[in-house]
Parts: sequence; structure tokens; C-alpha cells
Amino acid sequence: MTDMTDRPPTRFSRPGHGWQQVGQQLMSAASTVAGRAPRAPLPVGAPDEVLAQVAAELGPQDLPAAGIGEQAALNRMAQIVHEYGLNLTHELCAAHLQPPPLSVAVAADALASATNASLDTYDSGPATLAIEEWTVQALARLAGLPATSGGVFGPGGSYSNLLAMLIARDQAGAKRGIDIRHDGVVALGDPVVLCSRVAHFSVQRACAALGLGESAVVTVDCDDEHRMVPSALSAVLDSLEEAGRTPIAVVATAGTTDFGTVDPLPLIADIAYERGLWLHVDAAYGFGALFSDRFAGLLSGIDRADSITLDLHKVGWQPAAASLLLLADTESFSSLDRSVAYLNPEDDLEAGFGGQLGLTLQTTRRPDVLKVATTLMAYGRNGLGEMLESCHELALHAQSRVASEPQFELVSEATLTTVVFRYLCDELDIDQVNAEVRRRLISSGTALIGRTQVRIAADGEPRTCLKLTLLNPETTADDIERLFDEIVRVALEVESEGLAPAALNVGVAHD
Ligand SMILES: Cc1ncc(COP(=O)(O)O)c(C=O)c1O
Repeated sequence: MTDMTDRPPTRFSRPGHGWQQVGQQLMSAASTVAGRAPRAPLPVGAPDEVLAQVAAELGPQDLPAAGIGEQAALNRMAQIVHEYGLNLTHELCAAHLQPPPLSVAVAADALASATNASLDTYDSGPATLAIEEWTVQALARLAGLPATSGGVFGPGGSYSNLLAMLIARDQAGAKRGIDIRHDGVVALGDPVVLCSRVAHFSVQRACAALGLGESAVVTVDCDDEHRMVPSALSAVLDSLEEAGRTPIAVVATAGTTDFGTVDPLPLIADIAYERGLWLHVDAAYGFGALFSDRFAGLLSGIDRADSITLDLHKVGWQPAAASLLLLADTESFSSLDRSVAYLNPEDDLEAGFGGQLGLTLQTTRRPDVLKVATTLMAYGRNGLGEMLESCHELALHAQSRVASEPQFELVSEATLTTVVFRYLCDELDIDQVNAEVRRRLISSGTALIGRTQVRIAADGEPRTCLKLTLLNPETTADDIERLFDEIVRVALEVESEGLAPAALNVGVAHD
């Protein structure tokens, strides 16, 4: 029998037989940028200049009639993203929930692309179907979900939240004898989804996309630590019911985007249970706490969720996307089920040729799980837990530096890996100065830090704050010191130069 690899070379890559070739091509592309000086977190310069430089590198916006060849094209792209892209491995890169990915996960992701498997049917990728099932069950067990649980990987936390809201909506319909798939959402009356004031905005977007409207989302007050107040949830539910509206789900956040704080899950679970409401826990950021004995207690009560979003492209050190929606009862996926003649006809299903088409809105679905399973296998729970603990220590270090200097105000203490603070000054507008400091740090190539808006006084306007999201376990305490030295240096520079006219018009969105 002739092995495909024995065939003579062709003009094209060998689709489907290319793992070795992919490896060689990547090595070669990597060598074109190896040895270049370590870069800034983002390219130096103003955004319009940087984007114009990339456009110039690419040339006219016309499809070239003739290609330059595979390796040359790959080397060129490697060089462009190296020079003008984002460098998450930089120690002073601390803006978003976007970690430097583990190299083993990147390699496994390339493997996923090389297989080009899909998870919709058995014959589009049997191995990856079994790998997804193994991973889903391992993570469901870590969350303490029952044996009936199941899950599905998807292209991000926003999508997992959308799917959770779709399932909650359909289950609310099923309870009332309404099949939303056929009858539409109008039959559901005036549905409401409840979440805290600082829940992720994807909850609102999901409700809009599902035909419930953003106004279906009613937000509940938080305590001083940005956690939903259970008594406020009960009060809002009472008033909604009195007004004749139909609460269908409560979304608790385990790891708020800005603060990493966790809503009181056991009390919220009690309320949802008593009122027969779907409980979704958005643990996109916080799920990783379960990897560490030190932090797992923060998520106690998550085992009572009907659904959980978790993103391993946040605390999990995966390249995006590695998002999983877990359900406590796999039967709840039923409204997504489909039998399609060309994919999963009944007789094929009976013969065991089914896949996971019926768990999601996607048809072709790439095996994001491959990198996750590889990482879990490579590091185990303890390895990931250690990474989280290192990042938390960095956050504590940052917090103590903020607390030790009078020109800083600590706005939110570190729960997981984020610290929110602001620079204080007398002469200039504090919001504008903080926004300008961040922009200058980025454009000068010194550091990449985040920003957000926080209502510091309970009855006050939201104020512009700086935010560190520390997800690089290789960063050191000295790096954090250097970062703050830079923040102070740039802030003093802004104070002495004053705000340029452009800075006066940006970053002042008091909403
Ligand atoms: C709590 C929370 N939920 C959902 C999301 C959305 O995740 P993604 O960006 O993967 O869509 C985020 C993003 O930061 C988040 O922090």
C-alpha cells in the first residue's frame, strides 16, 4: 500500500497530511522573527500611524494575481504580526482577560487546524468527539455538577452566555407548555432575566439576539465589593411578579470582568430554586479558581447552577477561543436538537454515527477542545492552580504598591488577578489624566494596562480608573514595581505638560 507521504511533491500543501509540514513551516516562520529585539506590548506610535504602516506592508488592496509562495507568505505574516501586533508575553502587558497562551496549547491548536475535524457528526471527527466528552465531563466534575451534566465548546464567553440564555428561554417555555422554536417568544409573555449591575454586557446582547430585547434584562444592586445583593434580588423579583412580568433566569457572575468578585452563589441559588428560575453562572473569568485549593472555596455553590459559562482562554492560558457551556442536565439541550438529512439522519443516529450537532447553533465546529485537553493532560489541576496563584500574588503586590503611595487610590482589592486603582492629582481632571496616562503608556511602547469606569461614591458618577489584569505567571514582583514606576513617571509628565486638546475630548464618558 502506498503511503500518502511517499507520493512525489506537488505544487500544493498536502491537505490533511500536513502535521509535519505545518511544523516545518511554523519553525521556518518563527526563525524569521527569532532573535529580534524584545518588543513593546503594542507597537510604538499612535494607532492611525501603526495601522497605516501595516496597510503599507500589505500593499494595494487588490488580490495579487500570482502568489509569492507558501513559505514566503507565512514568513511575511509572521514578521507583520511580530512587528505590529500584540505581545502578550511582555511582562508589562496587563490590560485584558487575554493571557499569554501556553505554547503547548498553541501547538495543540495548530494540530486542531491540521485535522480540520468538526464536532457535528461522528464522521467529521471521531477522536475529537471523544476528547470533547472527556474534557466536558472532567470540568463538569470539577464544578461538582451531577452525572446528568453535559456541555459544548464554542467561540467565546459571549457565545456561551447566548446559548445559556437561549436554553433558559426555551426551558421556561417548555415549563409553560410553549415550544418557543415554533411559537416564538411572544407566547412567553413579558420575560425577564436578572443579573447584577456589573454582569458582563453579553447578557444584554444575548437577550436582544434572542428576541427578548435588552429591556428584558433587569439589573440588581451590588454591595461595596461589586457582588449582587441577594435581598435586592428577592425584592426585584417580587416587584416584577407584581407587575405581571415573567422572570425566567438569574445570571450570577463568578469573577466579574473588572474586579474578579464572585456573587454569593449559595444564596442566589436558594432564591432561584425557590422561584423555579434557571440559574446561569457566568464563570467565564472565575472558573479557574477551581484549579486551586486556595481559591476553590470562592466558587462554592456553583454546583447548584443549571448552566455555567467558563472560558479557558482567560484563566486557563489557552489561545482563544476555549469557551465551554456546561449544563447540569444534558436533556436541556433538547430545543437545539435537529435531524438533518445530510448530517445525522435517524438510521445513522441509531447506528451510532451521531455527533454534537444538537448541542449548539453551529454546524461545522472546530475542535477547540484539543488544546484544552492537551493542557489539562500536560499540567493537571495543580499546574493550572499554581499559575493562578502566581498571578494572584502579583495582584497583591500591585495592590500593596497602590496602597503605599498617596498619589494612588485603591478602587478595588484583588479577588483573583485584577486590581483597579486611579492616579490622583490636584490641578487637572483626574478622569482625563488617568485615561491619558494609559494612552501614553501604550503609544510609547512602555506598558499595556486597562481602564474601566467605576462608581466610587455610592451616589456618584462613574469615574475613569486604571486596571491591571495580571495573567502572566512569568511576570515578577520587580516587573510590577517597574510598571508602577512608569505609571508615576508618565502621570507626572501629563501633570507637568497639561492635557493636549485631543485628550480633553476623550475618556470622559460619565454615564
Ligand atoms: C464575566 C465575563 N463573561 C463573559 C465574557 C465574554 O467573553 P468573550 O470575550 O470570550 O466573549 C467576559 C469577557 O471578558 C467576561 O469577563
